Amino acid sequence: MRLSDDERAMLDGAEGPAVAAAMDLLVRYGEALDCERLCDVRNVAGTMTQPSPAKARLVKEGGWHKAFAVINLDCDDDIEIPDMRVPTCQLQHGFGPDADGVVPYPKESIQLQDDAEAFYGRRGVSILATCTPYQVGNLPTRGEHCAWMESSAVVYANSVLGARTNCEGTASTGAAGLTGKIPCWGNHLTENRYGTHLVDVRVPVDDFMEWGMLGYFVGDLVQEARPVIVGDIAQPDLVDLKHFGAAAATSGGVELYHIPGVTPEAPTLEAAFGGTPVPDAVSYGPRERRAVYDDINSQGSSTDVDFVLLGCPHASVEQIWRAAKALDGRRLNSSTQLWIMAPRALKAVADRSGYTETIERAGGRVLSDSCPAMSRAAPTGTRVFATDSAKQAHYLPAILGIKAWFGSLEECVDAAVTGRWSGGLR
Ligand code: F3S
Repeated sequence: MRLSDDERAMLDGAEGPAVAAAMDLLVRYGEALDCERLCDVRNVAGTMTQPSPAKARLVKEGGWHKAFAVINLDCDDDIEIPDMRVPTCQLQHGFGPDADGVVPYPKESIQLQDDAEAFYGRRGVSILATCTPYQVGNLPTRGEHCAWMESSAVVYANSVLGARTNCEGTASTGAAGLTGKIPCWGNHLTENRYGTHLVDVRVPVDDFMEWGMLGYFVGDLVQEARPVIVGDIAQPDLVDLKHFGAAAATSGGVELYHIPGVTPEAPTLEAAFGGTPVPDAVSYGPRERRAVYDDINSQGSSTDVDFVLLGCPHASVEQIWRAAKALDGRRLNSSTQLWIMAPRALKAVADRSGYTETIERAGGRVLSDSCPAMSRAAPTGTRVFATDSAKQAHYLPAILGIKAWFGSLEECVDAAVTGRWSGGLR
């Protein structure tokens, strides 16, 4: 790997042992990929504060510096962690103090995370605490090289914003925060950003649920390749694309897609494919739509619903508002709970706007920082849950051993109020 003078100096210890360890990690990572060089990043989204038993043990043995060295730098030395070199944010992590008494979640984890926030916050890690940093002010610009984790955020950054990031890990983002560098491969390179598959949509895709099903179909179809979407699609908004990308990254491993005329690197169909021949299209029609719906809903058998989960990826203000409208004047079934996951900063907006009050009056909760899949926590006794998220319907049954129903926000709210699933494909 070719290193610039400043990279070589960091590796040689000019900026201290922690930065040297970070650079060493990046060089090892890059060389394993046959990557020729590093690129400069000024936007890192990783995870430093997430509580875990291993982290608790390391903190007890050697303090927070030790925990960062081992977990975020893959280094066993006793080194002092300096401030981050470039803007770095914390993605989603565990539940916070406001979930105490609501979510069955260990108090020790909440305390550990509180301590972590204090340590890392003082070193320049912004505690955004959401899988959707782009909803709360972290909006990289087109062409900007970043080092982000979290598959749903990575696909949004690459596709909707035109920023450039691979799906990084805990250690590489820790090292990137301290150095402002990341191996320059994969999605950082222009030649790896052109479309590979064409999907022709032949049923109207015009709302959140439809975008989620289309994303699930596309991810399953292309796996880790780069789909280009054309056809009967209405102008999507942030929420639609958030849901589409998360679903495509769930059933496959999509990190980048194009929608000609919508996403920034695809002004035309030809541009989406970088001037190479446009492949034959795969159709997404009524038959495929029905198959995707049945696939996502293949878990459900009992229509008794104990738990309803909205906000995966974390909800926008508009989604919280829609849930509040659907719940206004109603009351949850006595044996059903409703949680809406949202970025803490947007929950503050929902609080000020009265949406949270409406939701809580009905018996629901707006929670932040985490989600049931991330923290492996659902209401005690949950056997069947309903969600408007293809991603949670995919993961939560495997993580918590519960059954899932997938449908629209309104169907999910109805399930929370009646305690029964009555959704279906219209
Ligand atoms: Fe976010 Fe959890 Fe979904 S971290 S993307 S709400 S699985």
